[in-house]
Amino acid sequence: MEKTDIIIVGSGIAALQLAHRLQDQFYVMIITKDEIESGNSYLAQGGIAAPIGLKDSVHAHMKDTLEAGCYHQLEDRVKELIEDGKRIVESLVNEGAPFDRKEDGSLSLGMEGAHSEHRILHSGGDQTGKFLMNHLLKSLSKEKVQFVEREMVYELVKNDKGHCCGVKTKDKDDAIRFYYAPHIVLATGGIGGLYPSTSNHPSVTGDGMALAFLAGAKLSDMEFIQFHPTLLWSEGKTCGLISEAVRGEGAILLNDEGKRIMEGIDPLMELAPRHIVAECIYKERRKGRNVYLDINSIEDFQGKFPSISALCSKHHISIEAGRIPVSPGCHFMMGGIVTDRVGRTNIPGLYAIGEVACSGIHGANRLASNSLLEGLVYGERLGEYLIESGVRSTVLIHSPFDRIVEGEPLSIPFHADELKEGMMKHVGIIRKEEGLSAHLKWLKEQPLTFQEHIDFNSREEIHLYFMWIVSLLVTESALFRTESRGGHIRADFPKEDNAGWLKRKMVLQKNEGRLRVDDHEQNETKIYA
Ligand code: SIN
Repeated sequence: MEKTDIIIVGSGIAALQLAHRLQDQFYVMIITKDEIESGNSYLAQGGIAAPIGLKDSVHAHMKDTLEAGCYHQLEDRVKELIEDGKRIVESLVNEGAPFDRKEDGSLSLGMEGAHSEHRILHSGGDQTGKFLMNHLLKSLSKEKVQFVEREMVYELVKNDKGHCCGVKTKDKDDAIRFYYAPHIVLATGGIGGLYPSTSNHPSVTGDGMALAFLAGAKLSDMEFIQFHPTLLWSEGKTCGLISEAVRGEGAILLNDEGKRIMEGIDPLMELAPRHIVAECIYKERRKGRNVYLDINSIEDFQGKFPSISALCSKHHISIEAGRIPVSPGCHFMMGGIVTDRVGRTNIPGLYAIGEVACSGIHGANRLASNSLLEGLVYGERLGEYLIESGVRSTVLIHSPFDRIVEGEPLSIPFHADELKEGMMKHVGIIRKEEGLSAHLKWLKEQPLTFQEHIDFNSREEIHLYFMWIVSLLVTESALFRTESRGGHIRADFPKEDNAGWLKRKMVLQKNEGRLRVDDHEQNETKIYA
């Protein structure tokens, strides 16, 4: 393949769906810093939510999504997500995507937290992401879609009109390459790797958000981070996800005294919205007690959850004993790069889809199993937009030796673990001003600035630099929002403050090397050092 029309950075479900939609018309290049199999979509155990059950409706799914997101969403975008999602899922079913079925051949629809209906489609039990990714990968043309693996995009290139028109990458040996195209799409996922406890692949550290911010894109809702209640806890650390579908099948949460910890917390008990369950487990564990998922009521656990069973066995947790030790961990970023309904950012030629984007659908907390849905819907919608706008190019891919040195290489003075521990301790499940300010102070003490061009010695340093940027944006945002809402819980402001904060957003942008924060609701702009 000699030319490329569209470069997609990242290789999850949104990226593959976009490539699938575009391949008849365009040449597509997908650049990923690891291998296709190592992203978050591959790990997704939970399924795809869609209102396709007989008793279900778009309205009911929409209501659950809005409620889980604490009404911080754009309602018309939520409606479109669910309407389009339903149509896409139905067409996947019709084209034979491998969704699990009951003995009578009908689709098996699961239940998860904060859903009022059975509407979760799964594949291979708890391997939905992997099955769906493989289904999409098989549909891609080798002539029209090129994969560039193990190259990390470290800078977005803009032309003299300010249009995004390329990317600079480093391969695993730190060799530099440039690629150009008229459309650059970020689909790099979230920020789980910024925390020591996460369900995400450790390489998912917010690269797309940092790249976009440095290029001048707007970001918002960065304080809203979902902590999944149930990660497997073994040997003093979290080590992989125990899907919410396990609670959907009837598992209950007990402490080591045998008390059902969700009693008196929420009428939905274990199936309450994730932030409520995560906070409850976190508080219980802070009292020095362990928390377990009691799975005794689930028949054929191994058959229903093969990859969770394998995970438990790898960590010497016996499924037969009926108790899986759990602890919460960072799972999903609701905020990100501000986009319109098709994925356009404020920079011409630059788009964002999937978890890296903040398109107004998740609000303060994402509803379970709405994320693969988001990837499918926004991948398709951006595809349609690009086909309609019909821009083509004959840009040649530049030589791998296109090296330009743009300044003195900087080095990073901290270790990733230091930053991650600070994030977990101060910008984790429960936050307060004192801790947030302490972490911000630590971040600001680092001799780093927002750079136009990146010139670090190694990929490892670029990773750390990007983590520093995203950590700073999250911490500043968490300090601004003096209320608790969804995935942002402040011990010092424990209530939702609808009068002061409902739908109010902070928009963050780089401004001449400094951080600019716009509060459109209050008509206020602040520039920070
Ligand atoms: C889960 O299986 O619990 C995670 C799925 C999701 O986050 O939607």
